[in-house]
Amino acid sequence: MKLFVKKSLAQLMATPEEGASTLKRTLGAGNLIALGIGAIIGAGLFVRTAAAAGAHAGPAVTLSFIIAAVGCAFAGLCYAEFASIIPIAGSAYTYAYATMGEIVAWIIGWALVLEYALGAATVSISWSEYANNLLGHRIPFEWCHSPMESAIINGVSHTGVINLPALLILLLLSLLLIKGTQESATVNTVIVVIKVTIVLVFIAIGWQFINPAHHTPYLIPANAPDATLPDGTKYSYLPFFNHGWGGVLTGAGIVFFAFIGFDAVSTAAQEAKNPKRDMPIGILGSLVVCTILYILFSWVLTGVAPYQDFMHAGKEASVAYAISQYMHHYEWLSTLVTVAILMGFSSVILVMLLGQSRVFYTMSTDGLLPKVFSDLHPKFRTPYKSNMILFVFVGLFAAFLPSSVAGDLTSIGTLFAFVLVCIGVMLLRRTNPELVRPFKTPLVPLVPILGILICSAMIISLPLETQLSALAWMIIGLIIYFTYSRGNSKLGNVSDVLPTASDFEKK
Ligand code: ALA
Repeated sequence: MKLFVKKSLAQLMATPEEGASTLKRTLGAGNLIALGIGAIIGAGLFVRTAAAAGAHAGPAVTLSFIIAAVGCAFAGLCYAEFASIIPIAGSAYTYAYATMGEIVAWIIGWALVLEYALGAATVSISWSEYANNLLGHRIPFEWCHSPMESAIINGVSHTGVINLPALLILLLLSLLLIKGTQESATVNTVIVVIKVTIVLVFIAIGWQFINPAHHTPYLIPANAPDATLPDGTKYSYLPFFNHGWGGVLTGAGIVFFAFIGFDAVSTAAQEAKNPKRDMPIGILGSLVVCTILYILFSWVLTGVAPYQDFMHAGKEASVAYAISQYMHHYEWLSTLVTVAILMGFSSVILVMLLGQSRVFYTMSTDGLLPKVFSDLHPKFRTPYKSNMILFVFVGLFAAFLPSSVAGDLTSIGTLFAFVLVCIGVMLLRRTNPELVRPFKTPLVPLVPILGILICSAMIISLPLETQLSALAWMIIGLIIYFTYSRGNSKLGNVSDVLPTASDFEKK
């Protein structure tokens, strides 16, 4: 059945070498962990922590982080097995093509668009918030917000028109990508050091400003007084997912965004010195470091400012707000944090855009997407047309959607890809038990099943509109698959071969 045609290891090894002949195996385990942290710490921590705490979880957003981390750890263990068996760029899309067949690979590739393209859009919207904060809110509300957002400022009602700063940063970074300026491991490490230092400084200084009253009660009570939103409307905590444990679970679905990116480590597989050993260390190591930082950071943030603030005055640029409002004599830190956050956001956007163009590049060389996505620039040897199309596509979302909507769609697409990767590990154990597995997911099928359950629970806890939008996105994807990709697939007539021990020996 052509729908489930699979890519052989020989094909997998051959495809990426063509376009990436200059890639060198230079990254060790430490670089890979740094790469992961570079892609992970961003808007999820600096923006969505406050959003989840304010609207759903309150101070218990720390528990939301733990739930999201556990889901990611299970999925991460499954990613690590795949990344060690198939250390090739393309991430989950590539794993699925080798193990579950073309249609599943297409579905994952299509879900990854939500992760990478909408992820880039979400972080660019957050970039806009912090840039405006740095400029002293000089950009008029209309020009830095989506038409779906409004606020009352000094008694005057404003509604967004277009988010121009978000478009600007996307344009700059897309041009950078076209020019082929890749983040070298060193530059990335510098940004990671700055980001992690800022997080540690905030935790260390903020700890002294924790007001224990802000942590009590720890979970939002059902009868918590309504919050007031920036546009003056009231927000009730009464619905199941807006308080108590239901709120903690929704919070997990929201802050899950903060972990997205650890899978980006797997896209660097071809640049790893010893991918079979170091990929699992890079994926799981970056997850562990970030989880510890996130729990401490969210504990401090919700201790410094009451969660209700994050629905109103502190809704945007929440970390800078908390510092300038509650940490007296540390206003300078607010500016420093903002600059570091802007740098951090830029690296996340860059990695997301890069990841998206790589996935599209691979899908295009497989014939599932038009050739335009794999056309390389004659001089820079980058998929420049793809980068330009992506700028328009991602830009539309960034310009006209609020970050919460784009962020939730990113989370749902990623969670869906994680579920499929967990299923993939179990399937592959059954269909190909003889495969060489340099890293083995422990306790199969327990770990993948728990990964599926926790990620599915987070999917269910996200807003209904997000679920429906994601469903519509997947239906569009399937229509494209059946009307275009299936007929153009290059693998259509190739036999179904999976990587075996002898394939590795040949290599
Ligand atoms: N994890 C990345 C962020 O939080 C996507 O910005």
